[in-house]
Amino acid sequence: MMELSEKEIDRLVEAATSVRGRAWAPYSGFAVGAAILGADGCIHVGCNVENASYGLSVCAERHAVASAIAANARVFSAVAVVTDSSPPASPCGACRQVLAEFGDFPVILVNLAGDRIVTSVGDLLPNAFTPESLVKS
Ligand code: THU
Repeated sequence: MMELSEKEIDRLVEAATSVRGRAWAPYSGFAVGAAILGADGCIHVGCNVENASYGLSVCAERHAVASAIAANARVFSAVAVVTDSSPPASPCGACRQVLAEFGDFPVILVNLAGDRIVTSVGDLLPNAFTPESLVKS
């Protein structure tokens, strides 16, 4: 896995913090921001977008992945997720699965108090079902 510089991590955290401020979370009151770093150095962001029909709510991480894919990014170096939880919240199961589609890369969990936990997609979802799982024996 690629080593990230402090500067890259800071840039990613800043982007995730900023997009968190634009979350649409009137039902839970729990705003989440995510920023995913493409191999070309471009950052793609997403926030959670809730809905009055609660089940239609979209998580920040999946929103960030969708933005990245729409911008033609396919290879990712890291993702940062910002919440106001202590300790910093980690991605839900569905988001872990969506991140695992694109390989194993660092996941930086951050809160507004400045706590940071660095983990990885592989650590968050061991033995994931991936595109390779579809290869027949
Ligand atoms: N949420 C995310 O955006 N990402 C996660 O990984 C977990 C939960 C959102 C969904 C909902 O809008 C709010 O946080 C509370 O669950």
